[in-house]
Amino acid sequence: MNVLVTGSRGQLGTELRRLSPLHTAHQYVWADIDELDLTNAAAVADFVHRHHIDTIVNCAAFTNVDGAEQHEADALRVNADAVANLARTGRRIIHISTDYVFSGEDCLPYRESDQPNPHTAYGRTKLEGEKQLLAICPDAIILRTAWLYSPWGKNFVKTMLSASEQHSELRVVYDQIGSPTYAGDLAEAVFAVLDCPTWHAGIYHFTDEGVCSWFDFTIEILRQANLILGTNRYQAAVLPIRSEEYTYRTPRPHYSVLDKQKFKSTFHFSIPYWTDSLRQCLTAILQAQ
Ligand SMILES: NC(=O)c1ccc[n+]([C@@H]2O[C@H](COP(=O)([O-])OP(=O)(O)OC[C@H]3O[C@@H](n4cnc5c(N)ncnc54)[C@H](OP(=O)(O)O)[C@@H]3O)[C@@H](O)[C@H]2O)c1
Repeated sequence: MNVLVTGSRGQLGTELRRLSPLHTAHQYVWADIDELDLTNAAAVADFVHRHHIDTIVNCAAFTNVDGAEQHEADALRVNADAVANLARTGRRIIHISTDYVFSGEDCLPYRESDQPNPHTAYGRTKLEGEKQLLAICPDAIILRTAWLYSPWGKNFVKTMLSASEQHSELRVVYDQIGSPTYAGDLAEAVFAVLDCPTWHAGIYHFTDEGVCSWFDFTIEILRQANLILGTNRYQAAVLPIRSEEYTYRTPRPHYSVLDKQKFKSTFHFSIPYWTDSLRQCLTAILQAQ
């Protein structure tokens, strides 16, 4: 099977490429915006035809939450129109979506059957992408994830490591709860879907196991980084604050926890605990320095 991975230089795309030598059942074609702009419908149809693509893993997205608030039409083109372009190729699709489709105002892990109610432009555009995909391609697979990090690109783990070297004090919110998710674990989940002998169409939730606040996450990032290095390089004091005390350009969800039972039982997949995966990612980041 020929598998096209879009957004291949993003966090998830890079992890899929890194881990692909361990998954040899399929051939992979990697494309980011330089090779294929997904908002160009004709280019998408031509690329898929020319490379004899059977299945598409769509990791491309407009992921800048504040940017989407200011430029919702641009975000919609990538997060919804481009997804429709992929759907119209008639190929099987694994599409990545987000916890931001939910309001984040609840207090029980979100199930796939729960009603979406996005409170941000990013969430609205991602939900529109899901809707357009399922309308054209009802047998698509959608994986919703949250709090993604990796050694690549911009993410919370890398931001906190550098912030703790630049500031003696970090003020971090403790009233937003979620599940930090290593992009390498999400990549393994995508391979599990691709390698499964049966195509189980539908929406699934996938994050790493466990929950914490951004405050807890920060404490653990700095603690583990110092342990790995055997030094006290990351010394900043971490202070817990409430969301109201932080100036967000876009309001963030208070509760982002996703119920992963459907994914685990369908694909017989054992999900790592977030602190174990954090150690793996930090080791990769710190070894590369
Ligand atoms: N990051 C998170 O915390 C998070 C949380 C929940 C869900 N997700 C979802 O998980 C998926 C993967 O996220 P990620 O963090 O790996 O994203 P990412 O690092 O931002 O990568 C997305 C990639 O898509 C590319 N892209 C943007 N517009 C494109 C276009 N028109 N045509 C082709 N490629 C285009 C981007 O290129 P440029 O960099 O040049 O724009 C980038 O390389 C996304 O669907 C995202 O919505 C992410």
